[in-house]
Amino acid sequence: TTGGSDAAKRNAGESAADLVTDGMVVGLGTGSTAAYAIRAIGRAVDAGLDVHGVPTSFASRELAREAEIPLVALDDVETIDLAIDGADQVADGHLIKGGGAAHAREKIVDTAADRFVVVADPSKEAETLDRSVPVEVLPAARQTVASAVRSAGGDPTLRTAERKDGPVVTDNGNLVVDCEFGLIDTPAALARTLSETPGVVEHGLFVGVADEVHVGRDEGVTVHEL
Ligand code: A5P
Repeated sequence: TTGGSDAAKRNAGESAADLVTDGMVVGLGTGSTAAYAIRAIGRAVDAGLDVHGVPTSFASRELAREAEIPLVALDDVETIDLAIDGADQVADGHLIKGGGAAHAREKIVDTAADRFVVVADPSKEAETLDRSVPVEVLPAARQTVASAVRSAGGDPTLRTAERKDGPVVTDNGNLVVDCEFGLIDTPAALARTLSETPGVVEHGLFVGVADEVHVGRDEGVTVHEL
């Protein structure tokens, strides 16, 4: 969770939830902004909407259950009509995700969806991506991936848990290395380098994946079509 107001996040989430129609399979993103979309979809289900949700994390599954959205597992769906997910930063339609360490499953769901709608508040918008890039790594590859990140000009830090002595462990049982690269002028090239590094399960650069960005404001929403 970063930045913007709850009202802005709610406006973004609810604007995206309005796109959900009967019969859809919907990817349910992770984070505080996507949570507003999940709750809104839950209310629509309560009012008779017929949808199935595909959660992107333990947390989004819990929230969807609470909202009583019928769920299907990722490995049981062939098509996803729409995915709604948050982002840590958005620049030129490219994203950094993984602030909640959920980016591996998020990328599978968001990329597979026919339409991927990003929900964000204005604090996420940037000219050029410059936040640290979360990289999920196989535990045994932590040092080798860190060396590769340094060779690529990055500064890697193992993510540690706030209320546990030790590292953050992802929903998939892996570790997260947050990698500072400064200004990321060529996100596609960096994404390729990270993806090609052995031991990297998934990184948080989402290049050319999003179809639309709904930026919530305290009043209203701005929609950017990509
Ligand atoms: C989860 O790992 C992230 O990719 C989230 O989607 C991202 O951190 C956005 O979260 P907020 O909407 O809470 O900022």
